[in-house]
Amino acid sequence: MTAVSEQTTQDVVPAPRGALPGHTFPAGFAWGAATAAYQIEGAAAEGGRTPSIWDVFSHTPGRTANGDTGDIAVDHFHRFREDVRMMADLGLTSYRFSLSWPRIQPTGRGPAVERGLDFYRALTDELLSYGITPVATLYHWDLPQHLEDLGGWTVRDTSARFADYTALAAEALGDRVSTWTTLNEPWCSAFLGYGSGVHAPGRTSPAEALKAAHHLNLGHGLAVGALRAALPASAQIALSLNLHQVRPLSDHPADAEAARRIDAVGNRIFTGPVLHGAYPADLIADTGRIVDWETLVRPGDLDEISRPIDLLGINYYTPTLVSAAENAKPAADSEIHGASAHSPWPGADDVAFHLAPGEVTAMGWPIDATGLTDLLLDVHRAHPGLPMLITENGAAFDDVPGPDGIVHDADRIAYLHDHLVAVARAIEAGADVRGYYLWSLMDNFEWAYGYAKRFGAVHVDYTTLARTPKASATWYSEVIRRGGLG
Ligand code: NOJ
Repeated sequence: MTAVSEQTTQDVVPAPRGALPGHTFPAGFAWGAATAAYQIEGAAAEGGRTPSIWDVFSHTPGRTANGDTGDIAVDHFHRFREDVRMMADLGLTSYRFSLSWPRIQPTGRGPAVERGLDFYRALTDELLSYGITPVATLYHWDLPQHLEDLGGWTVRDTSARFADYTALAAEALGDRVSTWTTLNEPWCSAFLGYGSGVHAPGRTSPAEALKAAHHLNLGHGLAVGALRAALPASAQIALSLNLHQVRPLSDHPADAEAARRIDAVGNRIFTGPVLHGAYPADLIADTGRIVDWETLVRPGDLDEISRPIDLLGINYYTPTLVSAAENAKPAADSEIHGASAHSPWPGADDVAFHLAPGEVTAMGWPIDATGLTDLLLDVHRAHPGLPMLITENGAAFDDVPGPDGIVHDADRIAYLHDHLVAVARAIEAGADVRGYYLWSLMDNFEWAYGYAKRFGAVHVDYTTLARTPKASATWYSEVIRRGGLG
């Protein structure tokens, strides 16, 4: 287990809130930032790329704020060299991005399109030329629409298609990319995409959402197999989960039961099969009247899904506060990812969601860095020895450039500072955390919220597409330069 040395000298990276101890991070800790293809690339119809579910969804009236789409996004497809230079100027040691499936394999089957792969070859070459380690995510929500037309993640064949696409990507890029993430936040793909419908493809069926979750798990496992077959033994393979740090509103047993249900369908539906080779019995009991698990999970599936991974990617933004419905306060806010009449939580109709009092981000998400320490330590205790990466953490705020043209985002600096301290505390307590990827490198298309929410450390002017580092970017580069907060 890696140890973190406490420094006794005064904080040299300013602590925006209160007195905080200095923290340095283990040698080799990855200091990164993250993005995703649909959120930044644009060039939606170039190089043979066909529509993904997010192209179709965002072009459907009423689905995204202001009707925003990723057609142009921040035009990273054409500006990637400028963007990589900016990463180098910031001092990032690693960059997490995603590959666009419809750019590489437009119909979701058949051979790869070389022009699509060439873009990622050029991007990764550029990163490597600056000494920045690329981390590629294979699926960050942009399923080829061709596959959605055949049933999307609700059908088993999509898992096999994902494995084939993974093999193409790994064969083409395996000489440049050594760390891979299969899926990003499959909870969102399954339950926001097929349950509440606030994400593409916008379906609203609890049964389809549960089927999608299993097929995403299966796709992950098959992809791990494809990656192991194509990559050298030294390759690092991960899965990125938005694990919910579930907290009961009170110590009332009914609230504990609500927390158990959300932990089952929010977390253990993925960690169970992936890390233990089984779906939790309580999940099956909670949801067995919605989906027939015996038909859904075929012999051999769990062996595929539980192929060993090298790292668990954790995306954390805010804790999840729940109670039994009967204990809910009036007007409890039950949705942190957008408004829908449909629940993204199958089998948990009697659970109410709450916002903890205190500061919130522009998403309305309560700010609570202790949730990150607790989450990392929960994972550490449940899966001792499992190395972790923070594959996303960050915050949206209503950034406005100052008279000097710079966004002085003290609120984001405070958020990042407190969450990095939270990571350091978890490491000090024994968690094996190997890196931190700020979400996001630059402002981008925030899914159903379009361009209205800004998560970037770098500001993007959506008229000129000019990139300008915010104060938080300068602060983060200083943290990186010093190897921590000490
Ligand atoms: C999770 C997703 O992976 C990312 O795409 C999104 O922009 C951030 N969280 C913020 O909501």
